[in-house]
Amino acid sequence: MSETKPLVVITRPIPEAGVDLLRHRYQVKMNLQDRVLRPEELVRFARGAQALLIQLTDRIDGKILDGIGRQLKVVANYAVGFDNLDLAAAKKRQVVVTNTPVVSTEAVAEHAFMLLLAVARRLVEADKFVRAGKYHLWELDLFLGQELRGKTLGILGLGHIGSRVAEIGALGYQMKVLYYDPAHPNDRDLRQRLGAEPATIRKLLTNSDYLSLHVPLTPKTRHLIGRIELQSMKKTAILINTARGPVVDEKALIAALKNGIIWGAGLDVYEFEPKISKELMRLPNVILTPHIASSTHEARDAMARLAAKNIIAVLEGRRPLTSAR
Ligand code: GLV
Ligand code: GLV
Repeated sequence: MSETKPLVVITRPIPEAGVDLLRHRYQVKMNLQDRVLRPEELVRFARGAQALLIQLTDRIDGKILDGIGRQLKVVANYAVGFDNLDLAAAKKRQVVVTNTPVVSTEAVAEHAFMLLLAVARRLVEADKFVRAGKYHLWELDLFLGQELRGKTLGILGLGHIGSRVAEIGALGYQMKVLYYDPAHPNDRDLRQRLGAEPATIRKLLTNSDYLSLHVPLTPKTRHLIGRIELQSMKKTAILINTARGPVVDEKALIAALKNGIIWGAGLDVYEFEPKISKELMRLPNVILTPHIASSTHEARDAMARLAAKNIIAVLEGRRPLTSAR
């Protein structure tokens, strides 16, 4: 009698590097249409799976887990964030939830700095100006921008990505780094190596020239940056969000950008993603990217491999390399 291999279901295509690892060991069923399956389609597609590999566009709750069946042991999220998953529902059913941190740190930190530089030097406006054939005369105040060196960089959320952004700022641009993170109130390494200082959220807001968000989305961080917080920031401040859209009250941000409460913003994520408010799109002092901060060849392949390795670990009865808590 041939032994049947466990079924691993992948909801949307991922890089071969990850699929390969799984195919060697399991029966792999991957949805080849690159679209998000509706909940009932997902349940039908994944029924009987012992492992489910999902993306942040899939929303997983108790009902879906029940539909897939009690044999399900692990849901591997192809993302650092796991706000798309009901962790309590998974725990109740003894389903392990894994994520893909660390391997996308560099990509996201570089994206945050790219946005910061691009907003500070008005890259997109300047590019549009040139392409529109408007560059006729060198002028000393054409697209006047701001420099990074010596400025105060505020880091909200000091996980892997926040720490790397702090490091690039301190070592690369000699920035003074302030950070706020209740979970890391006193990071000795960052204090000693980078001179980074822990701050209250109030001090972070009022003192930062540039503020970069690196917190996960939780009930506590939803709208952490709203009207009052934006009003306490410097008029010359730039806000960078490569974390999760709902951490910022988008309506309040639009008002702040419009009324000169802050100078500019660089956003990779949106409150009602993939919907982006028309008003935001019309503003010249914000640069918008479509949730691509971790979209590098390096990170995407590594995320696929890590998600696969997490599945293998759980199905072999070991602890996953990286899991959601
Ligand atoms: C992307 O947003 C991720 O969480 O990895
Ligand atoms: C700028 O092009 C300069 O020469 O200062």
